[in-house]
Amino acid sequence: MAQHNPWPDEGNTGHIWDEDIRELDNPPPLWWMLAFYAGFIMIIFYALYYPSIPLVNDHTKGLAGWTQIVEYKDDFKVLNDWRERTFADKEERLASLDVTEILKDDELRNYAIATSKVLYGDYCMACHGAGGQGNPNFPVLANDDWLWGGSIKAIEATLINGRVGNMPARGMMGNLSDEDVAAVADYTIALSEGRADDASVAAGKAIYAGKGMCMACHGPAGKPLAPTGATNLTDQIWRFGGTPGSDLRDEVIRTITNGVNVKKDGQFLAETRRAEMPSFKERLPDADRNIKRLAVYVHQLGGGQ
Ligand code: HEC
Ligand code: HEC
Repeated sequence: MAQHNPWPDEGNTGHIWDEDIRELDNPPPLWWMLAFYAGFIMIIFYALYYPSIPLVNDHTKGLAGWTQIVEYKDDFKVLNDWRERTFADKEERLASLDVTEILKDDELRNYAIATSKVLYGDYCMACHGAGGQGNPNFPVLANDDWLWGGSIKAIEATLINGRVGNMPARGMMGNLSDEDVAAVADYTIALSEGRADDASVAAGKAIYAGKGMCMACHGPAGKPLAPTGATNLTDQIWRFGGTPGSDLRDEVIRTITNGVNVKKDGQFLAETRRAEMPSFKERLPDADRNIKRLAVYVHQLGGGQ
């Protein structure tokens, strides 16, 4: 390389490649050097002003006190303040009006529905499904098959106090034999299929109205006379039996044998059906407005009465 330099006078560094490519020894242009120094000064300023230098367990915090989360919170507060100012009037009316009045007021009702989606997603969806379509062992909210009633007042009461259904194991007196249980299970399934008067299920029908005392809760014809938490047995909607792969008759026998929410010595029976809607009075933030909002939302999912 340097041993032979055919261009000794042009100010090259003596580094020559591929015979004639050489490195010149020119100073960088002034504008470039100025930008370089300015950048250097900026780095010092930046490092002092913002969080920057990593330490052993921490990092320098910077003179500005800036963090992404502080900036995010500030922006969020601006948005929230705006929301509160803009919707204060509606929120106040939600808190003060009765749910039946909210339902009658188109504007307020639409507002309640529009502002419920996130709440519903956070507090209800895990059990009742995204559109209220239910899940195995969690009831559908989007049809008119109500355990506890589908009027706006009944839905509101469900949300405020929660609901716990109770069905005794082996009939009201607990005295049904395995054969009785099987017979009444067959009758129950026949009810749902519109075959309640078949001679083949006559034995079960007698137990239903007689010693099982099922009709006290499920009504004389399989349909509760008033919403008290008992299931309508005349439709094809199964609260405990819809699990894919399970045998409906086995599921119904299990329900009748072990009841719903049955406790013995303070413990739930291992095979009893567990069905509990939690109370949301204390669980929801701003419950005074949010319970009404959600009641209106559930009411319009498809089954409101
Ligand atoms: C931990 C699961 C769970 C969560 C969370 C939950 N629910 Fe329920 N919900 C239930 C169960 C179980 C029942 C049925 C109770 C029964 O069988 O008597 C129920 C019943 C209901 C009913 C009565 C249905 C009927 O047929 O009468 C309504 C209305 C309801 N839930 C609305 C909601 C709303 C709105 C939320 C959100 C704020 C919510 N639920 C959150 C489990 C849940
Ligand atoms: C004290 C009231 C009561 C009595 C008596 C009663 N049930 Fe029930 N039954 C309920 C309740 C409450 C549920 C559960 C509803 C819920 O939480 O979804 C239920 C649920 C059921 C289910 C489950 C339905 C489904 O959709 O999966 C069947 C089947 C059933 N009962 C049959 C009977 C039969 C048969 C008898 C008589 C031997 C009987 N019940 C007696 C209250 C009662």
